[in-house]
Amino acid sequence: MDRELYDRARAARQHAHAPYSRFPVGAALRTEGGSVHVGCNVENASYPEGWCAETSAIAAMIAAGTTPADRRIAAICVTAEKIGGNLTTPCGGCRQRLAEFSGPDTLVHVSDPEGNSKTYRLRELLPAAFALDARP
Ligand code: THU
Repeated sequence: MDRELYDRARAARQHAHAPYSRFPVGAALRTEGGSVHVGCNVENASYPEGWCAETSAIAAMIAAGTTPADRRIAAICVTAEKIGGNLTTPCGGCRQRLAEFSGPDTLVHVSDPEGNSKTYRLRELLPAAFALDARP
């Protein structure tokens, strides 16, 4: 577990707007350049319009990023309550969004507010990922 990312994700979770699911989620990512960006879920009365915490963190990274390395994700930590005894992992859509700015070895730390955690590589969460080679 990455202590800094965990602390930042846990703090961001406190800011979640999750009145419909009552399931706040926080995320914090570190770019290959070393900068850290956070996100939380932002729900909407029109349910499908809500954003996941990972999506919010990616948006913050892209909006702030300067160098190419600051637009590539080295590691991300997601924090939410366990569901049925299992740590919360990124949804399918967020796995694809992470893949856009990550490599197969990008670290995905999943955790709960009590400090339990597990670390995956993105390739484990999104095998045989769809990709187009559109990068400059
Ligand atoms: N959610 C996230 O923000 N990230 C995840 O990894 C799983 C799900 C959010 C979406 C929705 O606001 C709430 O959790 C319940 O699904």
